[in-house]
Amino acid sequence: MGAIKDVLYVRFYVTDLRVQQQFLEDFGFKSEIDNGLLIARGTDGSPYIYVAEQSSEPTFVSVGFTAESETELRNLAALDDVPVESNNMPGGGLIARLTDPNGFSVEVVANVTDSPLLTVACRSGFNDGAEKQRLGERVAFAAPECLIKRLGHVVLMVNDFSETFEWYQRRFGLLISDEIVMNEEGKEQTLGAFTRCNRGEKYVDHHTLFFINAGDADFNHAAFEVANWDVLMQNHYKLKKAGHRHSFGVGKHILGSQIFDYWKDPDGFMLEHFTDGDLLNESFGSHKRGLEDLLGTHWGPDGMPGQ
Ligand SMILES: [Fe+2]
Repeated sequence: MGAIKDVLYVRFYVTDLRVQQQFLEDFGFKSEIDNGLLIARGTDGSPYIYVAEQSSEPTFVSVGFTAESETELRNLAALDDVPVESNNMPGGGLIARLTDPNGFSVEVVANVTDSPLLTVACRSGFNDGAEKQRLGERVAFAAPECLIKRLGHVVLMVNDFSETFEWYQRRFGLLISDEIVMNEEGKEQTLGAFTRCNRGEKYVDHHTLFFINAGDADFNHAAFEVANWDVLMQNHYKLKKAGHRHSFGVGKHILGSQIFDYWKDPDGFMLEHFTDGDLLNESFGSHKRGLEDLLGTHWGPDGMPGQ
């Protein structure tokens, strides 16, 4: 078992809080600005999954995780000799602030009190080729309080994959789901890896963190889960109509199986909607896959998001 349950939030500096809030609302969050802090949540219980403050310099500030327990949080803090402090965000609890080998700020929280769940986007059953769930009725959509459920994963470009993975593995007990390898002149090179939380028999997302061995440290994207395919497509057209910048998709990844849709926020940070991702537990093990599986799709455009 690892020390964390899941990734919880991402934190940014953005150049205009009001403009950013409008984008987040269009993207499907429920948000508010309180005392210079933009806080956005989804329908799951976490009081925040996206946090931003205003600055002239747009910056990815940190990624936040939920510890399995207060004991795990205290152990993590002791390992890096950092204090456990009271968390002044909604829901309170405790927080420890770590720094990874790339200089990324990594926050870990425990004992955060959940907010009441919001109404999830849902619709009547699907009639697919194999199974008909909707008989004698038209498709009906229930109005949700917001479209996004939760933060699912974060992708980071890192200076050195081995050093970075070792750091996270030692502290969080991450498991590799798929390591991307390439053979160059008979030598195996690691391009990066999709890593997941280790919660034993409990099923978790195929990846919580994906590290890209880039020789440079940078934020790549954060991915937020939506309820289903209809919601994802509905929001795709809403964002398009609102004039937001599309990046990549819609498509279905081979590694992780998510249906994806990537967008750029007003400062150019990439945020993704996804649905229908693979869930794995410890016994799924770790696998090696080639670049073609990273860049290929079951359907949709090939390649990587970026533009
Ligand atoms: Fe992603």
